[in-house]
Formats: sequence, structure tokens, C-alpha cells
Amino acid sequence: MEIIKIGFLGLGTVGSGACKILAGNAESIAKKVGARVEVAKILVRDPKKRRGIEVDRSLLTEKPWEVIGNSDIDIIVEVMGGTQPAKDYVIEAIKRGKSIVTANKDMMAIHGKELFSAADEYGTDLLFEGSVGGGIPIIRPLKHCLAANRLQEVIGIINGTTNYMLSKMTAEGSDFAEVLREAQQRGYAEADPSADVEGFDAARKLSILASIAFNTRVTLNDVFVEGISGITSEDIAYARELKYIIKLLGIAKDTGDGVEARVHPCFIPQTHPLASVNDVFNAIFVKGDAVGDVMFFGRGAGDMPTGSAVAADIMEAARNRVRKITGISCTCYEEKKIKDIGDIESKYYLRLKVKDRPGVLASIAFALGEKNVSIASVLQKHTDGDMAEIVLVTHMVRERYIQGALEIIEQLTAVGEICSMIRVEGD
Ligand code: NAP
Ligand code: HSE
Repeated sequence: MEIIKIGFLGLGTVGSGACKILAGNAESIAKKVGARVEVAKILVRDPKKRRGIEVDRSLLTEKPWEVIGNSDIDIIVEVMGGTQPAKDYVIEAIKRGKSIVTANKDMMAIHGKELFSAADEYGTDLLFEGSVGGGIPIIRPLKHCLAANRLQEVIGIINGTTNYMLSKMTAEGSDFAEVLREAQQRGYAEADPSADVEGFDAARKLSILASIAFNTRVTLNDVFVEGISGITSEDIAYARELKYIIKLLGIAKDTGDGVEARVHPCFIPQTHPLASVNDVFNAIFVKGDAVGDVMFFGRGAGDMPTGSAVAADIMEAARNRVRKITGISCTCYEEKKIKDIGDIESKYYLRLKVKDRPGVLASIAFALGEKNVSIASVLQKHTDGDMAEIVLVTHMVRERYIQGALEIIEQLTAVGEICSMIRVEGD
């Protein structure tokens, strides 16, 4: 049987998972590929480090050239992370005709166009299923199974750490700082948790999904990002009372007049399919003109789930090498306008602290009315001395109108604080 040789750049969480799968299922993988897949060299930072995987130490190297420049190697698996030097290594490997498999969303979200151009020029595969949703199949379904559709929406819970945190806050009424500490203790959140909690990890994944879904390049800078650090137990409790649940969503829509790409916390109805996706699980909801609604669900991170996606990409790249073909390449053949956040339309949940006296609600309603914002429901509950808390949910309105109304409301002497403004999705 032909042998296809693989070089790994990185043997951390994902690299180890992929290697375990390649070794554990070697026989069936060989039959499915039509060739044996053999790991020939692995780049690491520290070859002497203890690892959670049994590995032939002679395969480990700290010299990138022994992997990228190795003429025996057919496929490079980039699972080292970061944009540099990963991108330069991948470009060098492509120039040497090697197929690429990566799980690196940072690199794909920022340098996708350059990498695809190089892969096309040198006739190699560039596969990245593991970069979004860990073990959930989503890149291949978008590029293949749903390719006949005009896709209208991709909405997902695409960050496991924040989903774990919001699920805990919802179930236990605990506050943000408490659940963040717990997420860090469990190894979900990093010591510096900002990539997850401020929404940047989800934004990278969303830019990849939106680019594929709408056939237009959406880069990280195109995505509006707001994280969950401002979400309080009060907002969670109001959401429950109003029959919603708060989730951090990645939302991409092709509305005909442009593409929306945004990551922010949302109120979604308790009956929405994404509302029951809890803990570290991810789920991605896709709407197409032919297929209707489709949802993908599973583990969005971890060694074996992400390793599963990476190993399947290795198999596809190997199969293509055996047949001397390349698979589907970049599908961004259009140039669609990316919409400014001010131009999106949504319903909004607002929570305000105001003076509890006659005419205050009327002045707020007037400011909203001035900017064409229509109120759907109002709640006034907790009073503390002469201060009261008002919660409003609006009808659909353009975001720049609600922002304009909030600027006026902020100036009202009776308004102590605008505590929260959270978009409502999926009603
Ligand atoms: P990781 O555990 O930190 O492993 C990184 C590996 O790369 C390590 O083996 C490290 O070597 C090596 N490495 C890093 N920089 C290097 C350099 N400059 N030179 C040589 N070797 C270097 O990372 P990971 O969690 O597996 O993530 C890998 C990629 O997959 C990232 O792009 C990540 O975003 C993506 N991803 C991860 C997950 C997940 O669940 N972890 C899920 C989806 C996607 P040493 O072992 O010697 O330190
Ligand atoms: N930090 C990510 C998450 C996993 O919490 O979903 C890697 O993509």
C-alpha cells in the first residue's frame, strides 16, 4: 500500500488528539484512504517535554525546516496556533507542494485569502475543518452538502467557554467573576480569558463561517464584537422572567443589502433550538433557501473532538494525493458589502436605573419615540430608596436609532444609569 507521510507543526492538545486517532484507527483509515498515513516528523518547542501521548522521540524536532523542508512529507498539519510563525511555515510548505491541514482560526480569519491564493497557485489542498466548532462538521457541510443553497443565515454558539459560563450563571444565579474563576479552574478559560469572554475567539470563527456561507471574504476586522463581561445576574433573571435566555451568539446574515457579521450576547426565546445548548457544547444553525433550517451540534473543543476533525481532513488530503487531485478551494468569488452595526435591525432589551417619580417613564418613552423606537413591553420592579429599575423590550428597529435614543436618555436628569442594552434575536 502507498504511504502518505505527514509532518506535524505542534503536538499539543489538538496535535496529540489527531495523532492518537491516526494511530488508534490506522487500519480503517488506511482502507478508507487507499494508502497508509504515517507521521514522519513533528515540530515542537521543547522535544524533551513530558507529553500526554506516547511518541517516538526521534520524530520530535525543534527545527521547522526538518518538517516543512522535508521532501518525503506530503501533508503538513499545522496545529501550533497563533498567526506567526504559523502562517510563514504554511506558505513555505505550500510552495513546496505540500497539502495543508490546520485548526488555526486566528491564521485563517486573518490570512485566509493569502493562504488560499498560495494553495491555488501551487495546486495544493488547504483544509481547516477543526478551526470552527472543534469536532462539529461545519466547514465541509457548508462547502459541499449545502453548496446548492443560497445561504441566508448562520447563527451559532461557537465558543464553549462562554457558553459554559452563561449556562452556569443561568442555572445557579452566580455572577460573572465567580463563574469565570470556575471556568479557569476547570481549564476551559485561559489565565488571560479575554479572547473567549470578550468574543474575539467567536469572531474569528464567525468570519470563517460567513466567508464560506456567503461566498465573500469576511475578515476578523469586519466582525462587530461585544463580549459577555457586562452580563449580570440581574439581566439573566430578567431574561428568564421574559421567557428568554442569554447566549453569546455569532450571527452572520446575508440580507440582500449587505452582510451582517457580529458577535454579542443575545436574548433568545427559551423555545429557540440554540437555547437548550448548554455547558461547553457548541451549535450552529444554518438557514438556506432550499434546505430550510439545519442545526449542527457537538463538542467545540478538546483533543479528541478537534482531533477528529483534523484527522478527517488529513484523510481527505491523503486521498486526494493518492488520486493526484485537489479538492474544493476558496469559494469567495463575490465582493459583498459588510454592513455597519448601526444598520442592523433587531429588538432590544434595555435596563435602566431611574428616579421613581411621576413623568420619568413618559420622558424615556418620548426619547425612544423621537428616534422611531417602538416599545413592546415595560417592567418596573425593584425600588431602592427613590430609585427604580425599568426594563424595556423594543420592537424591531435599526440599531443607530436605538443608539440615538440612548444618547438622549443618558442626558435625562431622572436617569441614574443605563445598565444594559442587549439585542434580542430569534423571536
Ligand atoms: P497547544 O496545546 O498550545 O499546542 C501547541 C503546540 O505547538 C505545542 O506542541 C507546542 O510545542 C507547539 N508550538 C507552538 N509554537 C511553536 C513554535 N513557535 N515552534 C515550535 N513549536 C511550537 O495548542 P492547541 O490547543 O493544540 O491548539 C492548536 C491550534 O488548534 C490552535 O490554532 C487553536 O486555536 C486550534 N484549536 C484548538 C482547539 C482546542 O480544543 N485546544 C480547538 C479548536 C481549534 P510544545 O509542546 O513543545 O510546547
Ligand atoms: N477557547 C475555545 C472555546 C476553544 O472556548 O470554545 C478553542 O477554539
